[in-house]
Parts: sequence; structure tokens; C-alpha cells
Amino acid sequence: MKNKSLITLLMGVSFSSFAQIPVYQDVRQPLELRVQDALSRMTLEEKVKLCHAQSKFSSNGVPRLGISELWWSDGPHGVRAEINWNDWGYAGWTNDSVTAFPALTCLAATWNPEMSAGYGRAIGEEARYRKKDVLLGPGVNIYRTPLNGRNFEYMGEDPYLAGVMCVPYIQELQKNGVAACIKHYALNNQELWRGHIDVELSDRALHEIYLPAFKAAVQEGEAWSIMGAYNKIRGQHACHNDLILNQILKNDWAFDGVVVTDWGGCHDTQEAALYGLDVEMGSYTNGLTSESEFSYEDYFLAQPYLNMLQAGAVCQSTVDDKAARVLRLIFRTSMLPDKPFGSLATQDHYDVAEAIGNEGIVLLKNAPVSKKQKALLPIDPARYKRILVVGDNATRLLNEGGGSSELKVKDMISPLDGLKARYGDKVNYTQGYTAGRPMYGRIEGIPQSISDSLRKEAVRMAAESDLVIFVGGLNKNHYQDCEAGDRLSYGLPFGQDELIREITGVNKNMVLLLLSGNAVEMPWLDQVPAIVQSWYLGSMGGKSIANVLSGDINPSGKLPFSFPVRLNDCGAHAFDEMSYPGDSIRQIYKEDILVGYRWHDTKEIPALFPFGYGMSYTDFEYGKARISGQTLRDEQLLTITVPVKNTGKVAGKEVIQLYVNEAEAKVLRPTKELKGFRKVELQPGETQEVTFTVSVDDLKYYDDTRQAWHAEPGAFRVLIGTSSADIRSEAGFNYEPALMGNK
Ligand code: BGC
Repeated sequence: MKNKSLITLLMGVSFSSFAQIPVYQDVRQPLELRVQDALSRMTLEEKVKLCHAQSKFSSNGVPRLGISELWWSDGPHGVRAEINWNDWGYAGWTNDSVTAFPALTCLAATWNPEMSAGYGRAIGEEARYRKKDVLLGPGVNIYRTPLNGRNFEYMGEDPYLAGVMCVPYIQELQKNGVAACIKHYALNNQELWRGHIDVELSDRALHEIYLPAFKAAVQEGEAWSIMGAYNKIRGQHACHNDLILNQILKNDWAFDGVVVTDWGGCHDTQEAALYGLDVEMGSYTNGLTSESEFSYEDYFLAQPYLNMLQAGAVCQSTVDDKAARVLRLIFRTSMLPDKPFGSLATQDHYDVAEAIGNEGIVLLKNAPVSKKQKALLPIDPARYKRILVVGDNATRLLNEGGGSSELKVKDMISPLDGLKARYGDKVNYTQGYTAGRPMYGRIEGIPQSISDSLRKEAVRMAAESDLVIFVGGLNKNHYQDCEAGDRLSYGLPFGQDELIREITGVNKNMVLLLLSGNAVEMPWLDQVPAIVQSWYLGSMGGKSIANVLSGDINPSGKLPFSFPVRLNDCGAHAFDEMSYPGDSIRQIYKEDILVGYRWHDTKEIPALFPFGYGMSYTDFEYGKARISGQTLRDEQLLTITVPVKNTGKVAGKEVIQLYVNEAEAKVLRPTKELKGFRKVELQPGETQEVTFTVSVDDLKYYDDTRQAWHAEPGAFRVLIGTSSADIRSEAGFNYEPALMGNK
């Protein structure tokens, strides 16, 4: 059949043999045949039209041929409310309220790909119901500095973890006929000067740290679209960048989907024509607030591109390639036949959101207040008559603000709602500090009298309570966890450090919840007995929090990034300002491949809380790791097995992590690198054998002299741990390439 259609097409009779409909409309035909058929019927003007926006969040189809337009939507934590056709205002619809899913940092902290699959399925169903074709997410930029205002939208500091976790999200999302759009490709690791900062880094850092998660999204997830970043890379804007788009993405990785700009990320017609961009969106705005006087015909990839094509200044093949990619995307999404209908804000989606929250919350500290007492968590309600909840984040609508990931939420259980539902009348609330309204602009100073009175009231009430649950952290205001700006300092904002100190001065029974997508400095660490990293959890957040604090759910989240003690303990900040934030024009990633725990381990600078760390209400004992052989050869696998036992009194889940270490390398290698993890559930007393495999690919580094991945022959170790800083068992082996004896 396929051959017959191909022959018919080649003969110039582009009607399907199945019926008298054009081949491109015949969904039984192979995708590529349909794309080529549609292309062959289109005028140059029609091809160019496919390459740019027609409104803020839609791009053109080919109306003459019945080829439909594309509707794009943010992403990545839920489907954003409808935006006006021609400006950034909200359209004011009343049927666009959705489920807010936990932020991607929380998803990464579950270390559970099944959670990621559930997330992708549920958000895909919501996007489908809302008639979206492309969801702008997930984001997999690497967490380089805790100051990056957008870390909450990403999956942490490790390329392997981010890669494994993004794949099921993409696959399940796309089963709904909605494309994932991976962002922001690449090196958008800070928001400060994001529109123009020119990132310089080594080939090793590029390939070993910043690209692998994108590669996994493209090659394993088979994402249908990807969004270029705002910044420059080695002198060229990321949205039209020969190296990362043409050479790496489209050539080396064989990506057949669409490269779209970040909104307003296109800067030049010729570069956009030549260097890998397919669709231009959001031009002539700063991506956030201002509207242009230019029409969509003035876009770089609109009339100016057509002029260049007609003048022969750029090849027709450039537009044929772009248009073919857009047609492929249209056929995969908006013109996909028999699409599921989708669904919106269902109980099932709330269950998914709650489950991800349950598994993503990380217990950082849980110490007894005095020697005679048990640890504070899980909360034993019999011990406390009066529970005081303090903090702005206990009631704040944390899905407002933060930039494009902002959501209009149908239902929302705040931390205070969740705790009240669990502990009823025992719960009292006071705000404690104020943080202003969510907004993009600078937060005006809060009058001192207001701060003082809130603080005094909180301290007074804390002194009269038996337990204090402090719900603080960052929020979605500018200079916090928010797009288009970085945090101004590593400490907690809004006077929270002083407030925490004063409260613990009158009541030592404090459980501190950090709602944030970033690490924060903890000068009060010794005074606070229980600390819980609670992320931004979306619609069901308060429920997940109550589940974990009460012990109904045993926490099993593990940190997807390190918490440095001081900012300068983080690799990006250990150098001069050229490393972070740059001189406003350029920056150089001076820590090179030593990002996150790779820096802490290799430089022997302990983290406050290390990558992969998270406590449980039970204990796990690791036995001795066994390895299937002493020698690894190319094309072979070694199997590593380790028994893990739940030695405590309650059931729990543990994330067993496998890191690889090269004993003596010719080049710099991090002390350890994550190459595998498994999450297992164990009943009290139960033991499970946990199995990993290691292949030669897990031993490789990117050799910049060969411009290829390479493993050195020699001794390696696998390190099995409960975090990057707590290795429980290890085993050694030798790598011997197959041809070694013949050299
Ligand atoms: C953001 C993108 C977002 C786009 C559309 C940009 O400002 O960087 O992540 O998808 O706007 O809202």
C-alpha cells in the first residue's frame, strides 16, 4: 500500500488510492507521504505563513487546504487560562479553570517515573479538553544556582535524573494528541539578563551536564516540539543557533519536530532562516507585558522572510524544511483523527496531583526537641491541644504570579485548609509576616509597623501554643521563584529568619515547611527540630502536606538538587561575577562540569542537605552489593544487586541510588555521577533485592578532543547510596574495551 501511494505521488497524481481525497487528508497514509503531499500543493506564501504566529498563542494553518492552525498553551504545571488574541491580558473566560499539578521540582523529587507518567497523562487530558495542540513544557534546564528565579519549573541539578523523569511525562502527554514542547533549549540557567546573556562553556559541560535531559526528551520521549531559549550561546541566540539547533538537535539527534521560539526570542530573519528555527512566536514584546504596533506580517519569519526567499537570498529548501516540520506537528496533533476528548479538573486528576505531592515532599530534618522526647514528626495529635500555623504561605494562592506557569485553579486546598481538615479546632492561624501581592514589579517595602505587629502577634500566640507549624519559604513574586528575574539573595525573604528565631525562642516545638522551588540558607537550622521541603504542590497541596505531617503517608521524596550551606559553596558562585551572573553581556560557566553534587563531592565542600537526600519515618538497611563480573567489555552489561531492608515499624518507600566513580582518570571526572535509581516500597521487616545494570555508556565522558563520548579503560566503582553523600555499599570492576588486546 505504502509503495503504491508513493508511486502515485511520484507520478504527480496526488490523490489517495483509497478514496478520492488528497493524500495529505488520508490518515491511513504514512505521515511523511502526507507531509510531502501537502507541501507539494502549497504556495511559497502559504509555507512562510506556517512559520509564525497569528495571535499570542496560535500559529497559522493553511485555510485553503483545510489544514488547521495550531493552539499553543503554557505549561508546564497545568493548562494556562485563555489569553487575549493580541495582548497578554487574560481573556476572562469562565470555563478555563484547571487542576494545578505540583511544580516540576516536586515531580523530580519523587524519583518515581510512574508519577511522571501519571502527571503527563492527566495534564494531557486537561490540555486536550481545553483544545490545545501544544503544551509548553516540561522544562529540563539544569539547576545551576539557587538564585535562578525559574528553578521551580525544572527538574533539578542532575542530567540523568531530569532525563529519566521527563520521558514518561512527554510520552503520556502526547498520547492525547497534544505535543510536548521541551523548554528552554538551552542554557537558560538564570533569568537575569535572560534575553541577551551570552553563555560560554566547555564542550564537556555542554554535553555532559546541560544537554542530556533534552536529548532524552527528544530521543526517548520523542517530543514533537522544543522551545529555543532567550539567551545567547557562544555568540548566537539560542532560538537560531547553528550549533545547538542544526548540528546537535536536528542532525546528531535526528529531531523531526518543530523548534519554536520562546515568546519574543527571534532576532534576525537570515539567522532564523538558516539556523534551525521553525516557528516564531511572541515577537516585539518583552515576553511579558508590552504590546507591539507591528503586525504578525512584520515578524522576522513572515514578510521579511518571504522577501528574502523571493530574492533568492536564502534557499527555498529552508522553508520547505520548516513547513514540513510544522505540517508534521499539525498532523500529529490538531489534525489527528479519533483524538481522546480529554477531561478537566476531575477527581482522578486531583488524585494524581495529591499522589505526586505525597511522594515529592522531602523530610529534611526530624529531631527530638529534648532527649526524653520522640521526634516531632509524624505529629501525634494526643500530644498537642493547641497547634499554631504561622506564615503567609499557609494561605497564599501560590499558583498566581511566577510568570507563564501561572494558573487559574478550579479547586485549591491550601496548607492551612489541609491542616484544619486534619486537626480541626486545635488549629489556630496567624500570618506572621507579609509578602505583598503577587506581581512582576519590584515589591514595595512593607511598612515596618505592619511587619512588627504581625511578628509580635505570632510570637505571642506561639508562646501560648503546644506546637508551631511554620509555613514559609519563597513565593511567586518577582525576585523570588518567578520568571524574568533572579533572587537577590540566598536567604529567606520578608523577615522570616528573624521571625523563626523569635518563635523558637518561645516555643521549641516547631515544624518548618518550606514552600519553594529553590534551596534557601538556613541560619536557624539548629533551633528548628523538624524541617520539610514542601515545594509548590498545586490544587491538592494542603492535603499532601497533612498526609505527610500526620504520618498517613511516609515521606519518600529525595532532593533533586543540593542545598549549599552558603551561596559561595555552590560551584556557580565560587568564582567571580563572570561565572554568575556575568557582566550583563557575557558569562562563563567556570565551574565547568562540576555542577551541584559534582562540585560538593569533588571539592569536598559538604552540602547542608545533599542531592538525593530525604528522610523517612522508617529506617532502611543496605546489605552488601554483589556484581555479576569483574570485567566490563563493550556491548556487555554488569548486573549489580543490593538487598535493602525496612528495619523500622512502618511501611515506607526508599530511593536506592547508583553512582559511578572512575578511580584514576586522565581527565577531570566528578567523584561520582548518578547512573541509576530505583524506588521500592517495603513493609516493616521486608527485604528486597534491588537490581541495576551498568553498561559502558555509563562510564563515558565527553572527550572534547575527539568530539565524542569516550570511556577510558581501567578501574571503576559503583556506589550504592541513600543519597549522594551517604553511600552504603560499593563494588569495583574493570573496563576493558573489546579491541584492547589488539592495539
Ligand atoms: C516563557 C516561556 C513561556 C512563554 C509563553 C515566556 O516568557 O519564558 O516559558 O512558555 O513566555 O508564555
